[in-house]
Amino acid sequence: MNPAIYVHDLTKKFGDFTAVDHVSFTVQPGEIVGYLGPNGSGKTTTIRMLLGLLQPTDGVAHVLGLDIRTQAEAIRPRVGYMSQKFALYNELTAAENLDFYAGVYGVINRRRRVAEVLELVGLVKRSQERVGGLAAGWRQRLALAAALLHRPSLIFLDEPTSGVDPNARRTFWDLIYELAEAGTTIFVTTHYMDEAEYCGRLGIMFRGRLLAMDTLPALKERYLDGAIWRIEGALLATLQAMAGIIRATLSGDGVRAVTAPGAYTAVSLRSALEAQGFADVRVEAAEPSLEDVFIHLAGHKAAAGG
Ligand SMILES: Nc1ncnc2c1ncn2[C@@H]1O[C@H](COP(=O)(O)OP(=O)(O)OP(=O)(O)O)[C@@H](O)[C@H]1O
Ligand SMILES: [Mg+2]
Repeated sequence: MNPAIYVHDLTKKFGDFTAVDHVSFTVQPGEIVGYLGPNGSGKTTTIRMLLGLLQPTDGVAHVLGLDIRTQAEAIRPRVGYMSQKFALYNELTAAENLDFYAGVYGVINRRRRVAEVLELVGLVKRSQERVGGLAAGWRQRLALAAALLHRPSLIFLDEPTSGVDPNARRTFWDLIYELAEAGTTIFVTTHYMDEAEYCGRLGIMFRGRLLAMDTLPALKERYLDGAIWRIEGALLATLQAMAGIIRATLSGDGVRAVTAPGAYTAVSLRSALEAQGFADVRVEAAEPSLEDVFIHLAGHKAAAGG
């Protein structure tokens, strides 16, 4: 079976600036792959190249077995795209918006397909409401519906949940799951670390480079050979000044600390803190978070404050 997406050394330069820097990865049909990274790390630029909207400076990419350089025209009708700044017509109803896009895509049995996607994204009850009056969560679902009209087997979602409240984000992800279960491949960008949990595999972008792509447990295992601790009864500033502490941040009513590989055990960390004058210290091992992984990968100690 062809991979849904094959990317090798894909690179995009804007003048001297490298927005996407020799990125390589493969996505198999039916996967949900997250593409995570801070603002400006090259997520949208990657997607635009894969859609054939932007010519790569270097590298190779195939989408659904089609070459992005020479077969872009054939790719676009087969993939769905929910862009970061999706365009909906505020003065039209939800159903009218979909009808309009169904016309643009040349969808056959337009009426019926519009009704189907409204049902699919749970918008039937809102279908006659003007889009301008809909809450962000409903607008997001409508944009997804528009991207699904032509039954693509692969969809690119560019920060689909940004600006949407946590509840609506959850329901949106339920929807993504249903699509994936029905066999659709999903490539989704986000900068919400918590959404990583929903993705089968996760790519981590930083300054144009793909630092890793793997499952969340594998990322945590592979990239966090230091130890993570939850500490109560000691001061943040003390911990930050101690040897072997990579970073320490406030967490609830305690401190969360990342220590250098092999630097401490729970017992030795407690003793070290007692030696600093803290009488009642509690230390327990904690799970690495994706943020820990990200900071570790990016080698970015300056981010420790956040
Ligand atoms: N057409 C362009 N001309 C010049 N620079 C560009 C162009 N498009 C993008 N860039 C730059 O490339 C970098 C990557 O942009 P991109 O939009 O891919 O980032 P992103 O990861 O999608 O960020 P965000 O999370 O903000 O959407 C940014 O520094 C951006 O300013
Ligand atoms: Mg973007």
